[in-house]
Amino acid sequence: MAIEAPDERARRRLVNVLARAFRDNPMNVAIHGASPRRRLRANRAGLRALILDSGEHAIARVIRIDQQVVGGFVAIPPGLFPLPRPRIRRQLGCLLHQGARAMEQWSRVDFELGQFRTSLDHWYLAVLGVDPTHQGRGLGGRLLAELTRLAEERPAPIYLEADRAESVRFYRGRGFEDLAEHSVLGVRCICLGKGFSGAAPDVCDSVRVQS
Ligand SMILES: CC(C)(COP(=O)(O)OP(=O)(O)OC[C@H]1O[C@@H](n2cnc3c(N)ncnc32)[C@H](O)[C@@H]1OP(=O)(O)O)[C@@H](O)C(=O)NCCC(=O)NCCS
Repeated sequence: MAIEAPDERARRRLVNVLARAFRDNPMNVAIHGASPRRRLRANRAGLRALILDSGEHAIARVIRIDQQVVGGFVAIPPGLFPLPRPRIRRQLGCLLHQGARAMEQWSRVDFELGQFRTSLDHWYLAVLGVDPTHQGRGLGGRLLAELTRLAEERPAPIYLEADRAESVRFYRGRGFEDLAEHSVLGVRCICLGKGFSGAAPDVCDSVRVQS
């Protein structure tokens, strides 16, 4: 088992792994519908923009077992959020594989959850996932420990959003606290953070008022 910064090839593998990991998440189903194949295709298009084009602004790590990429994460260090808009070809890829309606819905999710985000400088964990055939063996925990190590080098709280009950449990069990809860497109999303300490109540005041 090894955790490493991915080269181009490993990034492409990570796109496929995370497309599978997120395939059945509630927001994916709400936006992309009942067909698992469609959700996989849509996820790959979205993840290409994040994983292949964010090299200068985000930090990625992959975890390998027997040389195979089986999980990974993309995190945006303090001060670098939000990421620049994806390249036109990636946006066209999303249009082709997700459709305009789904793209609009993802923008809405991003906008609505964006209101939760604190003005405090923080790490933003954009995605973390493990291939479904390798889940439950400690790999997600190893990846999160690696992110925590990186966050110690550039100290700032860590923030993320999760829409799956098992994932929320995963983070809660590893020192993350609920900061806010919001329903978008009928899907319950939990905003979680680590290291916000006394700042936590302010993080979500605006959202509490609106929801
Ligand atoms: C959340 C996720 C990264 C955890 O990875 P993992 O390798 O299964 O995690 P670990 O084996 O280190 O830890 C398992 C823990 O996660 C929980 N868990 C979450 N999903 C699980 C799954 N599908 N299978 C087994 N355990 C799962 C378990 O309850 C367990 O908690 P515990 O150790 O406190 O008892 C992984 O399930 C995943 O990729 N989920 C889909 C993508 C996602 O929702 N990511 C989070 C939002 S960014």
